[in-house]
Amino acid sequence: MGSAGLRSTNDYHNKSRAIGIPDARIETSLGDPDWTALRAEFPLLDRCTYLNACSLGPLPRAGREALARYAADWDREGTPVWYSTWLPLLGRLRDRLGQLLGTPADSVALAPSVSVALTTLASCIPRDAAAGRLKVLIGELDFPTLGHQWLSRGELDVEWVPSPDGISVPPAAFEERLGPGVAVMATTHLLYTTGYLQDVRALAELAHRAGAFLLVDGYQTVGCVPLQVQELDVDFYVGGCLKWLSGGPGTAFAYVRPDLIDKLEPRGTGWFASADPFSFSLQTLEFAPDARRFETGTWPVPSHYAALAALELILDRVGVDAICRRLRGFTTRILDRCEEAGVRTLTPREPEERCGVVALECDRPEEVEAALLAQKIVVDSRPGRIRLSPHWCLTQEEVDQATDCVLTEIKKGR
Ligand SMILES: Cc1ncc(COP(=O)(O)O)c(C=O)c1O
Repeated sequence: MGSAGLRSTNDYHNKSRAIGIPDARIETSLGDPDWTALRAEFPLLDRCTYLNACSLGPLPRAGREALARYAADWDREGTPVWYSTWLPLLGRLRDRLGQLLGTPADSVALAPSVSVALTTLASCIPRDAAAGRLKVLIGELDFPTLGHQWLSRGELDVEWVPSPDGISVPPAAFEERLGPGVAVMATTHLLYTTGYLQDVRALAELAHRAGAFLLVDGYQTVGCVPLQVQELDVDFYVGGCLKWLSGGPGTAFAYVRPDLIDKLEPRGTGWFASADPFSFSLQTLEFAPDARRFETGTWPVPSHYAALAALELILDRVGVDAICRRLRGFTTRILDRCEEAGVRTLTPREPEERCGVVALECDRPEEVEAALLAQKIVVDSRPGRIRLSPHWCLTQEEVDQATDCVLTEIKKGR
């Protein structure tokens, strides 16, 4: 990539603004969406009953068109496409992620996966060798990549915070373990195996009272639970567009609390994290003043085309608050049907403690998943359970019918 036309740190943002893209806007309610019209955006939903949106969101028509446009733009222009199209598109993506999270775009760094975002953030903490051995608290039900980040860093001790019921980790269990040696409390917003939605605001308060950072993995929350990360008062919030946001792989992100950004320096970086990449300075390193300092090298641009198209669809035509309401309705009904059928679930009954994921106890999860796939019902299996996460464009009838098929398959082995 050449350097013509883009010289200073903020040019990405400036270029975006120059073409009329506003800063992060707080998402507002769009009213009740037309679910039938929206469903036409997702052709896959007419070929199967899709109950696995928390793993891989279906491709929207707009995403398919964006991927075709990516190839056409590249082929049309070659190098100049960076300045005419690709960098402005990155600016729009940053703004939309800021809008999704309720924070200015320059507090959000792009990453190709949540694992990469976590690796960079983990490398920033702690830098002070004189601080002695520090500890990280991690919930016992968190996603493996969250634990692996800290286990791979020998200078830190990891303590697992237990779950008494296998469904949630009570804030009190974190609180008991907080103390002077704890640098970070890291946990997930919505637990991937149970669908439990943690009270992140309460966890932030506990962590901060004890002088620790709170890092939250929001991968299962972004796109299905309305978010204002600054109000949640978290220090770090990571997520990505693959799941509820239907943006495909390759677009993840890390929010860093604005007042922390210039105090953190990653160990391991890339030229696009520097203050002025196009100065081509080799022998000095000055990090970007904004969250771009947590990025690395050239971005996976095709992924960003697809992710932006899906974000625009969700933010402009649907609204995360509407998705949340609809999913809570679906999951309430799934839980009711499971109870009637005598199948145990590992998901809370209180609507505000869950959103779009229900886990059903099952001793043959892979067999049940395969049997359902043969009936064109897409679900997910995890050890000891079947996980249902209906797409928000399904109809209530489809969810009911598919749930009955899931229950029949689970009960067959009894
Ligand atoms: C809660 C959670 N965190 C992290 C990940 C992994 O993200 P990545 O593959 O982008 O590193 C997943 C993937 O399923 C997840 O569910």
